Amino acid sequence: MTHARQLPIQVVAHRGASEEAPEHTLAAYKKAIEDGADALECDVRLTADGHLVCVHDRRVNRTSNGRGAVSALELADLATLDFGSWKNGDEAPDWEIAPEERADTSVLTLERLLELVADTGRRVELAIETKHPTRWAGQVEERLLVLLKRFGLDAPASADESPVRIMSFSARSLHRVRAASPTLPAVYLMQFVSPRLRDGRLPGGVRIAGPSIRIARNHPAYIERLKKAGHQVHVWTVNEPEDVDLCVGLGVDAIITNRPRTVLDQLHR
Ligand code: G3P
Ligand code: CA
Repeated sequence: MTHARQLPIQVVAHRGASEEAPEHTLAAYKKAIEDGADALECDVRLTADGHLVCVHDRRVNRTSNGRGAVSALELADLATLDFGSWKNGDEAPDWEIAPEERADTSVLTLERLLELVADTGRRVELAIETKHPTRWAGQVEERLLVLLKRFGLDAPASADESPVRIMSFSARSLHRVRAASPTLPAVYLMQFVSPRLRDGRLPGGVRIAGPSIRIARNHPAYIERLKKAGHQVHVWTVNEPEDVDLCVGLGVDAIITNRPRTVLDQLHR
């Protein structure tokens, strides 16, 4: 049995509509939903007091006005920070938010993102990436499953029906999730083609491959091999029109992009 999708290519908003709004903020995810994205991608890390928050980097320095490692800070510390202003850089603001919407650029918990998705009046999927290495390895996955359970999302009847999937560059992280919840879809992310996976196999029964756009550009035959092996292929981060064309030509299943509206327009959706 294959796991190939016979559905239109899925457009996934990478860190939200992160070209236009500050990544991993409620503002970026609301924009992505408004733009028509099929799914939202987010990176998760565990705070010192055990909350899952949507932050890409190990430290908050790049995307907030604070400093320090997420894993060493408590949620209350993170809640004092502004995760929006950095987007404007030193030049004239190219992104602005109304004062009454400032709360949309404070730290985003995964719980709040799940609520947003639950309150959206259409199906919006969620691709959650566990970030490694972290001092909280193991606990991240444990907390993630507990949180998903609260939303009734931890044990879908089948992978195809699940609105949530877990992604990671860490095969061990995916293994932990799959051991506890075998029907939750897992995506193995790849920055390069590992020699031991060159034949199109994925680690530990994972059925979805997440290669970088660089892999798709430089090794299209590998993408075809993954597809032939029955895997879904979700490519990141696809922002250029010629890369969208490449992905369509290769028959990939999902395009993960910072500009969901532009990609949807290109796909005539
Ligand atoms: O969607 C996968 C992609 O997000 C992985 O890279 O560094 O943007 O998390 P990164
Ligand atoms: Ca990511």
